[in-house]
Amino acid sequence: MNVFRPVPIDVIVLYEKVVVDLFIKHQDMLVPFLEKGGVFTRDHLLELHRFGISRIYVRRTDAGTFEEYIHENSDKIINDSTIPGKVKAATFYVSSMHALRKAFEDPNSNQIEVLKNTLKPMFKNIMKNRILLNDLFSITEHDFNTYTHSVNVGIFATALAIHFYTNDRALGMEELERLTYGYFLHDIGKCKIPKSILSKRGNLDDHEWAIMKKHPEFGYTILMETGHLTDEAAYISMQHHERPNGSGYPFGMTDIHPCARICAIADIFDALTSERPYKKPMKPFDAIEIIKTEAITEFDNNLLSTFIRMLGPHEEVIRLSQATG
Ligand SMILES: [Fe+2]
Ligand SMILES: [Fe+2]
Repeated sequence: MNVFRPVPIDVIVLYEKVVVDLFIKHQDMLVPFLEKGGVFTRDHLLELHRFGISRIYVRRTDAGTFEEYIHENSDKIINDSTIPGKVKAATFYVSSMHALRKAFEDPNSNQIEVLKNTLKPMFKNIMKNRILLNDLFSITEHDFNTYTHSVNVGIFATALAIHFYTNDRALGMEELERLTYGYFLHDIGKCKIPKSILSKRGNLDDHEWAIMKKHPEFGYTILMETGHLTDEAAYISMQHHERPNGSGYPFGMTDIHPCARICAIADIFDALTSERPYKKPMKPFDAIEIIKTEAITEFDNNLLSTFIRMLGPHEEVIRLSQATG
């Protein structure tokens, strides 16, 4: 399964030739669905819907080509008011993943600019139509890697910031937009961490952990050197692993900026609810319980209550939300 990557079917453009071979999962096996060059029709879509299939698979080696294709068309799709939200969300998900992958491979000023330009149209759409946030939530993948994690945290933290500051006139559109960039780039410093550490199964040893803990500073430096270090991005990259009781890293500081606290909640939630080769994904309810132990100030509790409400009408989550106040 590791040689394939799942993608939401909503991202496939109807009546266009597909640029890579597509597969579907059948009884835990991947079987060919449509060959490269074949035209994806409404009949294909209806057939997938009939079998309750929401994901197709592409070869991992084809993922770059596939993402590039989606990325090229994303502006057009996201800005088209006739296209359903779930198609926009799926397109945005794959397109921002592509831009992040490029930024991680070569974190230069131009690549970060491309990422910002990828995020901008979706951000503007969300501010006009908040329902799109729900579409984005339902599209998040739980197969953990640095890129899916960065996109998921970007989505969760942006949504949390929008919900939390919704009636705060002090926080303008431009500031919210800068927060969005910061959240998608919160782990950009990980591009300086060896792959052997990033993808290690199981616990890191002391030496590896010491290297991993440097990623906030690496991120800060990258953003500064590329000219993309806004105040928001500085706080987010540097403080997203700090904790209010001083137990975090890199400095063990207790005075943490609100925008970094928002990122911390999204960051832990995604890490816990994602699947890794050595662990099953945790249910949102259980993940929230764990995050609660980190939320030791009134401010964090307020954020957490907002986050729980935002997650939707899951019975247990609502019950927990009431208990948290
Ligand atoms: Fe991080
Ligand atoms: Fe992270």
